[in-house]
Amino acid sequence: MTNIHRGKRIVLASNNAGKVREINQLLAEQEIQIIPQREFGVPEAEETGLTFVENALIKARNAALHSDLPAIADDSGIEVDALQGAPGVYSARFAGPGSSDADNNRRLLEALQDIPPEKRSARFQCVMVYLHHAEDPTPIICQGTWEGQILEAPRGEGGFGYDPLFLLTEKGCTSAELPPEEKNRLSHRGQALRRLLAALSES
Ligand code: IMP
Repeated sequence: MTNIHRGKRIVLASNNAGKVREINQLLAEQEIQIIPQREFGVPEAEETGLTFVENALIKARNAALHSDLPAIADDSGIEVDALQGAPGVYSARFAGPGSSDADNNRRLLEALQDIPPEKRSARFQCVMVYLHHAEDPTPIICQGTWEGQILEAPRGEGGFGYDPLFLLTEKGCTSAELPPEEKNRLSHRGQALRRLLAALSES
């Protein structure tokens, strides 16, 4: 990764500890200062979009507005083919409002209980956006996708969210069994953020 915008301060529009950790690791080599939105008391934005890109823009705009800084936001989720793409943009609240990762994982296993392994294909999606300011009409928008399948029981302690159920078919392990730097090298979020940094360094 090339160093961009030396010393630049950017607000990160997320309160999800797992995401914040991964994004900070990915940005460790950059000479930019990433400030979590909670440091500005940014209120949670309502994710009313039907697409990852709409929700990412809503979150980034909200964070930029309340911090007066450029903002990065990630909206992500898992699409399961046997569930016609659900939970998708509703991944964080699949088991209902305020649900925990464990609740969501349980709900996903229940929804797939009669589905055999060869029909449990799924993918993580991540849309990462950068807004220069809250009213920026030309945001930078980048995407990453990571293919796998849903296991029948959780495996591994790393990562967050659906990672213990997400089998990387070729590697034979879940994304929760990967070392953090390996997950970042391969993941939907790593792909999207590297693309975003490349686009930013050209802007
Ligand atoms: P968001 O905060 O609305 O973007 O919700 C993203 C949700 O998607 C998370 O709460 C997780 O449930 C799921 N998710 C996104 N990325 C990952 C990942 O890298 N591993 C596991 N679950 C993820």
